[in-house]
Amino acid sequence: MKGKNWNLKSRNRRGSKRRVEGAEIRNSLKLYPKPSTLYPDFKPMTQKRPQVYFAPPSVRRRLTDGGVSFSCLVNGRKIEREIDSSRALIEFIREDLGLKGTKEGCGEGECGACMVLVDGKAVNACLMMAVQLQGRELITIEGIKGKNGGLHPLQKTFMAEGAVQCGFCSPGLIIASEALLRRKPDATLEDIKLELTGNLCRCTGYEKVLSAVQKAQKLP
Ligand code: FES
Ligand code: FES
Repeated sequence: MKGKNWNLKSRNRRGSKRRVEGAEIRNSLKLYPKPSTLYPDFKPMTQKRPQVYFAPPSVRRRLTDGGVSFSCLVNGRKIEREIDSSRALIEFIREDLGLKGTKEGCGEGECGACMVLVDGKAVNACLMMAVQLQGRELITIEGIKGKNGGLHPLQKTFMAEGAVQCGFCSPGLIIASEALLRRKPDATLEDIKLELTGNLCRCTGYEKVLSAVQKAQKLP
């Protein structure tokens, strides 16, 4: 009998302790006000991002229109081709020209892995059609060279600073940095950060990339 009472009591005590803990947690949660009270203008995001439809290769083949001829300069070499007007620039570069240094990550303009220079400006090759190259100059990572045909200063400092880890983002980062340094050789750290906002890197944490670009500014 004595033992039974003790059991009931201990069960009750445990139960009430749990209730107190629950109340404490609920009270502590009240310490965090809703965002709407902190920021009167806060509105939860209801608008969805616009969806961009990218046809997979099988569908693209069915959309072909028989071919358009165009010519352009690729890494200093004149190229003349007949190509489907629905062919993306990234496919043209990687599959038709076999220049595999340019990477395809997201395929929708988010990661910057596919960046190339078109007339000196950094563009995402996944968002451009190959026929838009007509009469223009394309430079891929294979065409980025230093003086005397050696490594480009950016390539040297990326290696020296350890800014290349898995390397998937590196061609895009180097192209984006090169576009900036051509336009603005004395770019500040803020300029570099701004320029590289379109390039995602999941390995380096960006610090080494930023210091590599800054050091490249000082190299001949
Ligand atoms: S593959 Fe072009 S931006 Fe990601
Ligand atoms: S080095 Fe791996 S994603 Fe940038």
